[in-house]
Amino acid sequence: MTNDNTADSPMGGDTVAETGTTELTSCTGLTAAPLAPCTFVIFGASGDLTARKLIPSLFHLFANNGLPHHFAIVGCGRSEMSDQQFRTRMQEAVNPENQAHWLAFANHLHYRPVTYDAAASFARLAEELEEIDRRHNTGGNRIFYLAVPPSLYPVIGVRIGLAGLSLENNNANGWARIVVEKPFGHNLKTAIELDQTLHLHFAEHQIFRIDHYLAKETVQNILMLRFANAIFEPIWNRNYIDYVGIVATEKLGVEHRAGFYEQAGVLRDMFQNHMKQLLALTAMEPPSRFEADRVRDEKVKVFRSLKPFDRQNANDNLILGQYGPGCMDGRDVPGYRDEPGVRDNSHTPTFAMMRLFIDNWRWRHVPFYLVSGKRLARKETKIIIQFKEVPHSMFPQLAGERIGANRLTLGIYPEEEIKLTFQTKPPGPRVCLRPVTMDFKYHHSMPPPILDAYEKVLLDCMIGDQTLFWRQDGVEQCWSFLTPVLDECETCTGQVSELHPYAAGGQGPEPAQKWLRLLGGE
Ligand code: BG6
Repeated sequence: MTNDNTADSPMGGDTVAETGTTELTSCTGLTAAPLAPCTFVIFGASGDLTARKLIPSLFHLFANNGLPHHFAIVGCGRSEMSDQQFRTRMQEAVNPENQAHWLAFANHLHYRPVTYDAAASFARLAEELEEIDRRHNTGGNRIFYLAVPPSLYPVIGVRIGLAGLSLENNNANGWARIVVEKPFGHNLKTAIELDQTLHLHFAEHQIFRIDHYLAKETVQNILMLRFANAIFEPIWNRNYIDYVGIVATEKLGVEHRAGFYEQAGVLRDMFQNHMKQLLALTAMEPPSRFEADRVRDEKVKVFRSLKPFDRQNANDNLILGQYGPGCMDGRDVPGYRDEPGVRDNSHTPTFAMMRLFIDNWRWRHVPFYLVSGKRLARKETKIIIQFKEVPHSMFPQLAGERIGANRLTLGIYPEEEIKLTFQTKPPGPRVCLRPVTMDFKYHHSMPPPILDAYEKVLLDCMIGDQTLFWRQDGVEQCWSFLTPVLDECETCTGQVSELHPYAAGGQGPEPAQKWLRLLGGE
């Protein structure tokens, strides 16, 4: 059977003769169609996220023609600041090389002080936004970005709504979108409450729940590897896969975020969001089309199939740890409890290793090992697909030695790569085996990523594409799984609450070592 694309060319698509590879579509340009004009309204404009990520990302997009021709950025915060003071502060944060570019960008920057829980303040903001729309010709299209502490999400969401700013195509409004940073709630109950509050004024298509992991190039590529190639799917299941590892370890400690982290710990900070997204991308069925709701439908099916956490055998399924003092890169660093803002007797876990099972036809009995922790020896993010061993060794020469199984590693950081490990015979008269790897390194074969994760997220908000954002049903399914585990850890009633110490800069808690060895060994 031929398909229309391949009828004229033996290779199909536009052939690249030297390599025999094909490039089916043009990847040039940041967007397929011109972007609609819009205004970004950033709440929390004097905060860390705005200076560290949002304004630098918007500036980089601007410099790469990734913003609409007509746009404005309005920083809002509790502090008093003039437009000029805001521009100066942002210039220091961005530290632009190209001054002409910066000056052109800075003309679009404004600042408006806002009292978050005052109706009058938002009424004034609504008028000011209309005036800014007129000045920059942005057609009343607005993105409201909540770069504020989570307790303010409902407060600001409601104020935006009551000021009439969430209504689309009404009065001076065009479209309106609200962007919410994680965490989406503290547990299932509060996630539902937050959602209900946002839905008082915003419809689901207007709510963008960010997970920056989804916007990483290598993470986006998981679906391409699985579903744009025919060779992986037939073996991507319990018949061939022994276990899956999802690893996101960090060298960083809690830094200046104790206020947030003491409430969150590693389970809320990493497992409820980034780790679950990596799990879903690895385990989901192919959606019928690559579009937001169909992709997210498939992810939700994975979350819904998670086998409830087995409390009876908790120690086999969850290991929690907390870093103590240690040495990182030749420098002594304090333990978690000695970090500024952390309680002396804190029981907050900074490391977790969890074994999960997905109860469906494809994955039954295949363990998924999820590991994440702070202040470990390496910053590394990867997904390991460990295949089963060959069913029978036909080599008497190996004298009963086990033949190492194949492993596919999807490296996300620091090595952005896809690596397949397999056995070969080294040259020589004797029959013996040696594992070798076939590697694809993104940086060898592709130009460097044009966009970093935040830039991609901002671009998708402008386009209105929610594929790389959480949908509420996924959030709730994940909380349904995690909330009982957290309850048990936090009430200190069950075995689950055991917290194992580990030295900063080390390999993690002792009881986790046997599992970590399974995921290492490359
Ligand atoms: C954030 C967490 O979402 O992700 C941080 O809040 C963590 O605690 C960070 O350090 C890790 O992200 P990345 O992109 O550096 O792997």
